[in-house]
Amino acid sequence: MSPGGQKLRERARYGMDAPGVLYGCFAMGLLCFVLQTIFPTLTIEGRDWPIGIVFVLGQALCFPSGMCMLLYGKYGKFRHRDRLLSLIEWKGNERVLDVGTGLGLLLIGAAKKLTSGRAVGIDIWSQKDLSGNFASETLNNAILEGVDKKITIKSEDARALSFANDAFDVILSNLCLHNIPNREGRDRACSEIARVLKKTGVALISDFQKTEEYTEIFLKEGLFVEKLGPYWKNTFLGLTVLKVTKRSA
Ligand SMILES: C[S@@+](CC[C@H](N)C(=O)[O-])C[C@H]1O[C@@H](n2cnc3c(N)ncnc32)[C@H](O)[C@@H]1O
Repeated sequence: MSPGGQKLRERARYGMDAPGVLYGCFAMGLLCFVLQTIFPTLTIEGRDWPIGIVFVLGQALCFPSGMCMLLYGKYGKFRHRDRLLSLIEWKGNERVLDVGTGLGLLLIGAAKKLTSGRAVGIDIWSQKDLSGNFASETLNNAILEGVDKKITIKSEDARALSFANDAFDVILSNLCLHNIPNREGRDRACSEIARVLKKTGVALISDFQKTEEYTEIFLKEGLFVEKLGPYWKNTFLGLTVLKVTKRSA
């Protein structure tokens, strides 16, 4: 049983990222297929126009995009998690923060590397960014993965972190910051990450877009940034990782 009294699932579930976009890709692809079948050509004033080609192009764009997102959600995200975690030289006593933890992919992965250390996951639990995204589900996942004693889950916005300056040895964030709708908010989140990172710490910020923006802010805050990737191999989504530190490597 979970702390909420409901029956625990048998396996942890990490959800589908941007489910609306994922289903939209397949729905649009299907619509293009139907339209191409019904209207391979359009006759205007006795002349045939091959508009079917537009629908073929629509399918060529939508189906592969949907497929990549599906494969990332099913397989790629776990490989990317392992890749990110392997970039840290774990001692086991770290204080870890996962910004936009969602269902705890990185939070739980990091907690498994800890002995005396502890990991905190913060999120605002947006349903459009991740399917089944609830704090209670993240806790269930942690219980199922045997790390619930090593983690804390907090409802908190990346733009206004409640933690003290220099609080974390390791900060992780995957596919979170681009969801913040404006530049000012994303800049604020990067500044907050810079603020709570220890002088000896390392932050790994992973995203498929806007990483140039994040780099700009980290540099402005006086941090050092190493850009890794974009990684496509095995993950099906081109993810760039920024390795951010307060002193040069
Ligand atoms: C695509 S999901 C990725 C979740 C997780 N990092 C992973 O890799 O599986 C993006 C997450 O960022 C969270 N998020 C979006 N905006 C946020 C904000 N301003 N502060 C904290 N979390 C946020 C969403 O609720 C969602 O859980």
